[in-house]
Amino acid sequence: MNIYSDASNLVRGVDTAFIIIFSAVLFFLVSVSIVIVVFIFKYNNKRHPKAVQIEGNIKLEIIWTLIPLLLVMGMFYFGWTGWKPQVTEPPEDSFNIEVTARMWKWDFAYENGKRLDTMYVPQGVPIAIDLKSVDVVHSFYIPAFRLKQDVVPGYKTVRWFIGNKPGDYDLFCAEYCGLNHSYMYTTVKVLPKADFDKWYTDTTAVVTTAGAAATPASEGMQLVQRYGCNACHSADGTRIIGPSYKGIFGHETVVIENGQEKTVMVDEEYLKNSIYDPNSQIVKGFNRGLMQSYKGQVSEEELEKIIEYIKSLQ
Ligand code: CUA
Repeated sequence: MNIYSDASNLVRGVDTAFIIIFSAVLFFLVSVSIVIVVFIFKYNNKRHPKAVQIEGNIKLEIIWTLIPLLLVMGMFYFGWTGWKPQVTEPPEDSFNIEVTARMWKWDFAYENGKRLDTMYVPQGVPIAIDLKSVDVVHSFYIPAFRLKQDVVPGYKTVRWFIGNKPGDYDLFCAEYCGLNHSYMYTTVKVLPKADFDKWYTDTTAVVTTAGAAATPASEGMQLVQRYGCNACHSADGTRIIGPSYKGIFGHETVVIENGQEKTVMVDEEYLKNSIYDPNSQIVKGFNRGLMQSYKGQVSEEELEKIIEYIKSLQ
């Protein structure tokens, strides 16, 4: 009987350590409970009215030091060997995916320029993931793969795994990273190699989802979803972390710049600055430092579409 799911190459190592530790804990829970019950009967006041003093027992002392020592060293050994493969260098022929974490969205970028918020991987191929965060500490977690890694801003962390079985697996952030931490929830899709290659080389995929009648504004809306902007900015006037997009274009707003209040017009230039240098001007009543610059991520062309979308929300 195979007790391992084998969803990834990491499952056996982690599950073996877990099963060994769990069995040891279960064994001692049951044995200690039995001894307690036996002693309650054997040494109660009726059967054993006079207490006996025990002065010490070298043999017992050695046994109850050695056994736990061997036990924890065994747990350490299996824990270590189970964890080690996760932190070794990825194999040479790995398939690379750049993973970016930000409040509150995962972003997966492929070498051919594909970029999306769901992770697609080929079955049976080592996948090297380059993890980085643009703001706070997040944690990349795929429970079924037994893979969990903190994503720390300023560090690039590389991990790797092999998805062994086609299917959809949960992927989420396992480090509380602010109000909408729970939004950082997505799927890893493991596809058979041939299906994956078809998906990977299909450059029309993005165009078809946008639909035939795509306008700059509707494409802008998709960009806003893809970059996770909508986690903090609503389109219906609701206040979340940042100001809503609704009805701001062409109107004046009060911002704080260098500690000074200032009235500015929300126009193309203002929106561009708010995306590329968000902390230079903060709308009054909102907090500085919650948004990072999207320069180098959102292109000028994408920026124009996002602006068209904001314009359309009157
Ligand atoms: Cu990112 Cu929690």
